[in-house]
Amino acid sequence: MGGLSKKAYSLELLGKQSKAPLLLLDSGGLLFTQEKLQSSRATQARITAEGIVEAYNFMGYKAVGIASADLTTGIDFLKDIRSRSKFAWLSANLVQADSRKPIFQDGIQVEVGKLKIAIIGLTEERAGQFLDKNDGAMILPWQEVLPGVISRFARQADLVILLSSYSQADNKKIVAQVPGINLILQAGPGAKNLMPELANNSLLLQIAPRGKQQGVLDVFWHHSKIWQPDQNAELLAKEGDVDRTRQQIENFDRQEKATGYLGKNPAAQKAYEFLKEQMPNQEKELASLRKTVETMQTGPREKARYGNRFIDLEKSLPDQPEVLAIVQKTKQQANLVVSKAAPAGTAQEKPSYSGWRACATCHQQQADKWEKSRHADALRTLITKGQGRNLDCLPCHVTSLLTGNEPNALALAADLQQVGCEACHGPGRQHVSGPDKWHLTRNPGEEVCLRCHQPGHDDSFEFKSKLEQLGCPSGLH
Ligand code: HEC
Ligand code: HEC
Ligand code: HEC
Ligand code: HEC
Repeated sequence: MGGLSKKAYSLELLGKQSKAPLLLLDSGGLLFTQEKLQSSRATQARITAEGIVEAYNFMGYKAVGIASADLTTGIDFLKDIRSRSKFAWLSANLVQADSRKPIFQDGIQVEVGKLKIAIIGLTEERAGQFLDKNDGAMILPWQEVLPGVISRFARQADLVILLSSYSQADNKKIVAQVPGINLILQAGPGAKNLMPELANNSLLLQIAPRGKQQGVLDVFWHHSKIWQPDQNAELLAKEGDVDRTRQQIENFDRQEKATGYLGKNPAAQKAYEFLKEQMPNQEKELASLRKTVETMQTGPREKARYGNRFIDLEKSLPDQPEVLAIVQKTKQQANLVVSKAAPAGTAQEKPSYSGWRACATCHQQQADKWEKSRHADALRTLITKGQGRNLDCLPCHVTSLLTGNEPNALALAADLQQVGCEACHGPGRQHVSGPDKWHLTRNPGEEVCLRCHQPGHDDSFEFKSKLEQLGCPSGLH
């Protein structure tokens, strides 16, 4: 939830700068980072989810779709969340198993400026496997519900938006079979930033969840309800084509001049002639496209247009103060729950680890070097950020693999509260008691580093140079 205060700031700025009214929507999956959660972590995760909702309330979101990662701790919790939300939670196909009626709302209609906009939610079927059997809930295939729901809403709306957690491939099938959807915001599995795509006159949009960017779509709607393909993008692509063709022709010309290459290579000669033939046509197309784009910008508008942007939520962006306060309060509450569950300081480390001090007794050289490295301070880094108990952060900032009994891991012995020797060489208790008999990994490879140096935490990890910066000195003592 760390990025929320930047997101809120960026939205405030957008609201001030934009002449058009803003409609804030999220296609779902905002409450939890995982679809499955150990019960020991549920309380902390729910506190975080409540904080996210408070921030979304503040920012003024209108509607959110329900995706599998919103159902992680059950339907009842989501109902509780709904009662705290100033925005609508939407799913047309998450239904009561007996009555087949939606458990949440299927859609809403809002007025934005002069436009009547219908917003409908759709939950991917895969989410069904995460539902608790006792909830009496199920997820219907979109084919069963969507045509009816869309036609009901489309009758009264100027613009119909679907918040879908199906994949882009499924959404394309949807717009091929269900007319009337003008815009889909996708939150499919593994969603990443995509450029907008037109399919059956529906615009498909997608942005990575919890990303470092915020997606903004400027819509210039038109009563024809037909999107004008983004001609600027087409123009750029065409310019690229023409450039490439020109380059290839020049290459051939140069080689021919230097070595008489074409005369000796009939196939190359053919390719060369083909390119020369293509060139005038391509240039003509380019000129006509340029003209269209120019007139489109000045002439009368006959279709709906859009402009898509991704706004960077950089670390340097200021924090929106109210949302920052919500985030900080939430983190404190979440940390408190864990500290009650596991008082710090009682050594309960996994028996297979022995801690870096034991290693230092025989490998002084490596220990000296390691103590000066940032690995030796990794937990302190979290503590200074007030995150010393956050289970989302700990696994990469201490020694030990945090799987299994999580809260106990917070009571690690002092010499495991860093990225220590055993984070790379493996658990060493047996080795300590008999180094000749029990061996450790001598050369931990890149795959070991990548367990923690993952994109999002270290975007520019390069094994060789980082190893040089940090590698243990050779020699055993
Ligand atoms: C258990 C997780 C973990 C593993 C495994 C790990 N690192 Fe790190 N590494 C970290 C963390 C966390 C930091 C940041 C510590 C801090 O600043 O508090 C870090 C920092 C570093 C730094 C210093 C940062 C910089 O760019 O100056 C280097 C270099 C580095 N690691 C290299 C490696 C290499 C090479 C490997 C594999 C041989 C490796 N790490 C394995 C977690 C890990
Ligand atoms: C997947 C492993 C992983 C997780 C989870 C993780 N970190 Fe890190 N963290 C790293 C690594 C690796 C580095 C070192 C990056 C580098 O070399 O610059 C690092 C560096 C840092 C740094 C120092 C560098 C900086 O960017 O200022 C801070 C602060 C930090 N992490 C905080 C956190 C917090 C807070 C969390 C939990 C919300 C967290 N980390 C979760 C792997 C992780
Ligand atoms: C970030 C990962 C990492 C950490 C932490 C780490 N090592 Fe290493 N260690 C390595 C790598 C990688 C090598 C192989 C060095 C190379 O090839 O440059 C190595 C090599 C060694 C060797 C063998 C040297 C040789 O001559 O073959 C010993 C002994 C060793 N480390 C001990 C330690 C001890 C003791 C600690 C803690 C004080 C420690 N290491 C912490 C990654 C790590
Ligand atoms: C009692 C002394 C002693 C302690 C304590 C000790 N080592 Fe060793 N270590 C050795 C000896 C001796 C060797 C060489 C073994 C051989 O070559 O047969 C060795 C070898 C290694 C190697 C090279 C690979 C191998 O297993 O041969 C690594 C890596 C290593 N130790 C890491 C560690 C780490 C990490 C710790 C702490 C968990 C540690 N050692 C604790 C004595 C010790």
